[in-house]
Amino acid sequence: MAEQQLYAVPEHWAANAKVDRDAYEALYAAAAADPDAFWLEEAKRLDWIKAPTVAGDWSFDEDDFHIQWFKDGVLNVSANCIDRHLPERGDQVAIIWEPDVPEEEPRRFTYRQVHEEVGRFANVLKAQGVRKGDRVTVYLPMIPEAAFALLACARIGAIHSVVFGGFSPDALAGRIQDCDSKLVITADAGRRGGKRIALKANVDAAAARAPSLERVIVIKVTGDDVPMHDRDIWYHEAAAEVSSECAPEPMNAEDPLFILYTSGSTGKPKGVLHTTGGYLLWASYTHDLVFDHRPENVFWCAADIGWVTGHTYVVYGPLANGATTLMYEGLPNWPDASRIWQVVDRHQVHTVFTAPTALRSLMKEGDAPVKATSRASLRLLGTVGEPINPEAWRWYHQVVGEGRSPIVDTWWQTETGGALIAPLPGATDLKPGSATKPLPGVHPQLVDEAGEVLDGAVSGNLCITASWPGQMRTVWGDHERFFQTYFTTYRGKYFTGDGCRRDEHGYYWITGRVDDVLNVSGHRMGTAEVESALVLHPKVAEAAVVGMPHDVKGQGIYAYVTLNSGEEPSEDLTATLRAWVRKEIGPIATPDAIQFAPGLPKTRSGKIMRRILRKIAEGEVDSLGDTSTLADPAVVDDLVANRQR
Ligand code: WT7
Repeated sequence: MAEQQLYAVPEHWAANAKVDRDAYEALYAAAAADPDAFWLEEAKRLDWIKAPTVAGDWSFDEDDFHIQWFKDGVLNVSANCIDRHLPERGDQVAIIWEPDVPEEEPRRFTYRQVHEEVGRFANVLKAQGVRKGDRVTVYLPMIPEAAFALLACARIGAIHSVVFGGFSPDALAGRIQDCDSKLVITADAGRRGGKRIALKANVDAAAARAPSLERVIVIKVTGDDVPMHDRDIWYHEAAAEVSSECAPEPMNAEDPLFILYTSGSTGKPKGVLHTTGGYLLWASYTHDLVFDHRPENVFWCAADIGWVTGHTYVVYGPLANGATTLMYEGLPNWPDASRIWQVVDRHQVHTVFTAPTALRSLMKEGDAPVKATSRASLRLLGTVGEPINPEAWRWYHQVVGEGRSPIVDTWWQTETGGALIAPLPGATDLKPGSATKPLPGVHPQLVDEAGEVLDGAVSGNLCITASWPGQMRTVWGDHERFFQTYFTTYRGKYFTGDGCRRDEHGYYWITGRVDDVLNVSGHRMGTAEVESALVLHPKVAEAAVVGMPHDVKGQGIYAYVTLNSGEEPSEDLTATLRAWVRKEIGPIATPDAIQFAPGLPKTRSGKIMRRILRKIAEGEVDSLGDTSTLADPAVVDDLVANRQR
């Protein structure tokens, strides 16, 4: 089988990597044999104010459900990411910032400069009354201040909640309200791919629906004229009035570090909560192992800070490890399809870490834009966010990497804090499309629908049987939902929501979500969220949303819409509804196809049979399966006849 082709660890990697094959096996065995000893030893990679004496204390069982790591340890995340590096690498560049517009100058911040910027930002927050445990919403473009803002929150013990700049005012308002956040940090506007994103205007619109909001700190980025209200202050004005000296707040390892909202199969987005010690350790550990971190290398994770990938591999992992991390304001393919590789050349990037969807969109432009650049500095390639199709994998490996750089395909989730299943470049032979093997300390298990454990080469639902330090601790404000969502499908195990195959070499192949969660361009979108947005439109009676194959996005959004009686389908209405969803949630939720349906396939008890809707959206109309249990089997004929292409 072509996909089973093995790419052996390149010789220079096998010889020089921090972790080679034997070391991986030894680490895996050590973590399995005595997790407490293993994690207490790994915990030494962080600087503790008070070192922990216990590692994991957890149970996934209902009557004793709890998850804690290093619970008697005390530390500060920003001190770990900045202060402790000052003696040795105060003058090393910590953050390289590449602007949206290629003609503009990049900016560089040494660890010493980051220390100053973060101290000042922390004092601005304090001056606004922000205290330990308060929630701070961050709604920013990819500018250095975004990293400073996160680290400033961590410095004073405030809990940040980053909301992706592409989310609508409504989505922002919901996320401000859910965690009762009083302060938002934003910018006048953002720049991305030559376009403006009116962030401040969005915050103003959100404020009307977010009564908890008291203060907005505005960073001047574009200089666009924005109205300033009583609650608004300019960052540069506030910053001019405070010192840059701010002592880091001692935090318990289990104190919250951040909330990040993510979509689930039902209801509104959940506030995933990560804590101080376990999360930072996981960020540091995985960044070190998976990317074979060396301080002299430039590391570029091309994700936006609005997603967990940006948290863990733009900010926390690299900075905890004393790396030079690159932050890019723009898009990989703007102004043209060479840009991403031009940035690699400009900053002599060693490791680039991006999403399969970006690779597929670049691949469509052919090899010439890649070959117009040198890429001589590249040694390691990474992917994340969705299964990578072997064709895109090979293109990345051969055309971008010229065959010399391993690809680390990292499988993980917002909930897991960092990578769980991923190759190590010096240890793991690669198979295109497989995230390969679990990291030391990670215990995956495949189960069937009934929860029976499946051994050997087999497909099943992916669970993790033991806690790891980077695991989320709760859903903000709804601990019961946390337990219900992840620990009740298969009792005593964490259920990932992913389907997975394990092959005869013990390699894991993630096959995608088995729940009602879509993965659009590597971003999670709950079908229920898009449905709720659609039914808010006055002409819509009912909506059902499923995924459909999409050659660049991986999955596209296919919406079946039933209109109120008297309303007529039209192309105008299709455009209106697409724009409506964009406005309600954000551009990433825009339906790719809308099919007007006089009726939806429902069981006699009124449950929509999504299986049938999925098949029709996928074009597999010959394998709809049993439709005899439908209340009205005739609706299926209409759906098939009017399928959108
Ligand atoms: C879902 C998590 C991981 C950070 C970015 C997305 C899918 C993620 C891979 C991969 C196959 C992947 C899974 C997972 N996924 N990485 N390497 N191979 N699938 O985080 O938004 O929380 O989404 O993304 O389906 O459950 P997220």
